[in-house]
Amino acid sequence: MAGQTAEYDYEAGSYDESRFGNKIGRHLDYMHRKIVQDLNISGKLILDAGTGTGRFAIWLAKKGFEVIGVDLSPKMLKVAKKKMKALNVNASLILADLRFLPFKPGVFNGCVCINVIDHLSDISKFLKDVNRVLKSDGCFIFNFSNILSPYLSIALIVNFREKALFKGGIRSKWFTFKKIRILLREAGFELRGIRGCMIASPLPLGDRFIKIVQPINLLAESSRLKFFSSSIFIKARPVLTMH
Ligand SMILES: C[S@@+](CC[C@H](N)C(=O)[O-])C[C@H]1O[C@@H](n2cnc3c(N)ncnc32)[C@H](O)[C@@H]1O
Repeated sequence: MAGQTAEYDYEAGSYDESRFGNKIGRHLDYMHRKIVQDLNISGKLILDAGTGTGRFAIWLAKKGFEVIGVDLSPKMLKVAKKKMKALNVNASLILADLRFLPFKPGVFNGCVCINVIDHLSDISKFLKDVNRVLKSDGCFIFNFSNILSPYLSIALIVNFREKALFKGGIRSKWFTFKKIRILLREAGFELRGIRGCMIASPLPLGDRFIKIVQPINLLAESSRLKFFSSSIFIKARPVLTMH
């Protein structure tokens, strides 16, 4: 657990700029929000699981949701708090481990968890806990890195050559769609929506590549190409309660 905190503490100060600061990063940020919006996040109280620097917590709070952001990294939360103050946005931030969510059963209308599950050591435990804290008509939107994406092998090579891989010691897991379906079923969820983001960070691509990245991502989002996307977004609903 301490190791995971350190990984993101290390990156906290540069996270927003390094991942979403250039043209491609801004496009990815836009795509992530577009997809979450299309998958129709609804209700009053939303849990932003692994909120980091508050990218989704801030956006959702601005849209009028009541948001609670949870993260294990004090430094990521410090950046989130600073951004919220500067933007005059209100959301609660809690320092906690996602595998032991400090909430009563059935309190949230929704949970978003973006760019997080690849880093969790016990996804099964986390999914069951999300089910526990969601209301029976709640929704859960998250994404995962797709091992079947051809893009991921290219990204691996490019990042390796650029020595960008494993910078800061951050480890990532990649999944098959089938594995995610099994994990969801075991945690009492049914699948309600799928979207794809073909090209995802991190890739040290210059701004000029935006002309290629943008149309590919828009095309892959909801076509069959989504199954080959580097990042697959899922909407799920609880069918068996874990309360
Ligand atoms: C790549 S960042 C994503 C942040 C944010 N969701 C976003 O999309 O910008 C991953 C975040 O997950 C957090 N995290 C990783 N493992 C965690 C755990 N077990 N419990 C709570 N947070 C965790 C990290 O501290 C980090 O802030």
